[in-house]
Amino acid sequence: MPLIDHLLANVTVRKAIWKLWYPFLTRRLRGEEVLFLNYAYEEEPPLGLPLAPADEPNRACIQLYHHVATQADLTGRDVLEVSCGHGGGASYVVRTLRPRSYTGLDLNPTGVRFCRQRHRIEGLSFVQGDAQSLPFADGSFDAVLNVEASHCYPVFPRFLAEAARVLRPGGHLLYADFRFTTGIPAWEQAVAAAPLTTVRRRVINAEVLRGLEKNSERSMELIVKHLPKFMHGLGRDFAGIDGSRIHTAVRDGALSYRSYCLQKPGA
Ligand SMILES: C[S@@+](CC[C@H](N)C(=O)[O-])C[C@H]1O[C@@H](n2cnc3c(N)ncnc32)[C@H](O)[C@@H]1O
Repeated sequence: MPLIDHLLANVTVRKAIWKLWYPFLTRRLRGEEVLFLNYAYEEEPPLGLPLAPADEPNRACIQLYHHVATQADLTGRDVLEVSCGHGGGASYVVRTLRPRSYTGLDLNPTGVRFCRQRHRIEGLSFVQGDAQSLPFADGSFDAVLNVEASHCYPVFPRFLAEAARVLRPGGHLLYADFRFTTGIPAWEQAVAAAPLTTVRRRVINAEVLRGLEKNSERSMELIVKHLPKFMHGLGRDFAGIDGSRIHTAVRDGALSYRSYCLQKPGA
């Protein structure tokens, strides 16, 4: 097992690494329109979502949000996004799916400041907080959205319990993320043990691989421009550039990328 995997298996180290990495990334990318931090999604034939011209450069990343968020009707609902990153998904969902309110939460204070300045839309607000200890009362939301972030959480079942707690009865957790093969049994056990019913589960490796490939050139440009040379390998892996460990794992199935629609019982 590579050293980095040993380190990431340790809960305390994992928390510290992500806590430092994302604010570092936000500061490095300041000045670029990097509104998404996910691996992206494309179907075959292409999804062809109608998008505003300004959204076009982010098409593949938006499509991952669209795929996950449209598993339930969000019109007129109160939505919490846990781990909203740079807020591109929050902005897209508010503008197109018309929830009543949308709160984006992230652990990264620099990212939350960026979101507040960049996405000024009525009904959309951002707060800094931890997915494992959500700063909201029980039953505050109709839906919780969570895209490609739960692999960062030190204790994943705690997030599921918190999502269930802040949902109203009948509310949905709309969720997507990945795990390497060794992490899949614990992942599946946690989902099965959560106080949520699985309405739908899909493996989306093929769609994510197409998304990664569409974004590869732009991601590589950003790595070369903003990361010191000794970090290029790490950057290539993090961004899933063609030939990187992540890209190969998505392609060969050493990693499973899934989307879920989970529901809190008792509507
Ligand atoms: C790969 S990014 C995805 C961001 C966004 N969902 C997107 O698709 O663009 C993972 C995000 O999880 C956030 N994160 C990591 N640990 C967290 C935690 N314990 N609580 C809340 N957010 C966390 C990071 O700050 C980062 O913004």
